[in-house]
Amino acid sequence: MGPSQLNSSNGPQSLYRQMLPAELIRFKQKGQSITILTAWDSLSSSIVEEAGADVVLVGDSLGMVVLGHATTLPVTLEEMLHHTQAVGRGFTLPLAQQPLVVCDLPFLSYQCGEDKAVAAAGKLLKHSCASAVKLEGAEPEILKVIGRLIRMGIPVMGHLGLTPQAVHRLGYKRQAQDPLSQEKVISQALQLEQLGCFAIVLEHVPEVLTSRLRKKLAIPLIGIGAGEDCDGQVRVTADLLGLSKKQPSFIQALVPGRQLCVEALQDWIKQQHQKGEIPTKAISQQELDC
Ligand code: KIV
Repeated sequence: MGPSQLNSSNGPQSLYRQMLPAELIRFKQKGQSITILTAWDSLSSSIVEEAGADVVLVGDSLGMVVLGHATTLPVTLEEMLHHTQAVGRGFTLPLAQQPLVVCDLPFLSYQCGEDKAVAAAGKLLKHSCASAVKLEGAEPEILKVIGRLIRMGIPVMGHLGLTPQAVHRLGYKRQAQDPLSQEKVISQALQLEQLGCFAIVLEHVPEVLTSRLRKKLAIPLIGIGAGEDCDGQVRVTADLLGLSKKQPSFIQALVPGRQLCVEALQDWIKQQHQKGEIPTKAISQQELDC
């Protein structure tokens, strides 16, 4: 069920989305699987909305997917704002029926203290269609930041397991492979829930951990490369469509999108060449002399 099918108690002219972050907790209670897809501009958000995703994530993976960076680290708050504003312009449904929009807080916009984090998240919520932010990790400093954001009325989605902003510490390897690190992830997830996070993304971990954690949490556990036993799944849309230059090992594409696009364009280019040379106007000696 996409957000457009929710009962519209506040009518299509509502000034806010019906798909509030807390709605995802009701999805879990009702046993409804949650779908989250990334978007980075108005074209991708219009497609993801039309497909019926419950949530659109403006992930900082856009740094790699569309800005050509090797990691997510160079992405700035201004870039996240710019792309989230474009995502908002792509929606065509009445506001009440639009998907929930969650925006990633980029590297160093929240790790340097609570005030800076509130200002960064506030800027995204104030000037774009985002209704919530996602932060990576659950170290004591990050927990403080998350608590403050939530108290300030800013809904927060957590992100554990493989956290790409920690690439220089963790690499892109599968995380929590041993019992001790699995216990750590469980304890971090419970702390995030206690602070009031409305959902947690769990990336690239063994499914045995996902299954254990899902049962312990009242809030939804959203997996990516974490097995099927989740309350929902999140995917980078370009990966799912097979468009990415570098496909993550743990994500299977639905279609060979990149190959389909290249072949379609090659056919078009070939057709143009086969049309023959465009006749050019003969140029007189007088025109050449000027
Ligand atoms: O940035 C992103 O797209 C993400 C997803 C991989 C969950 O955080």
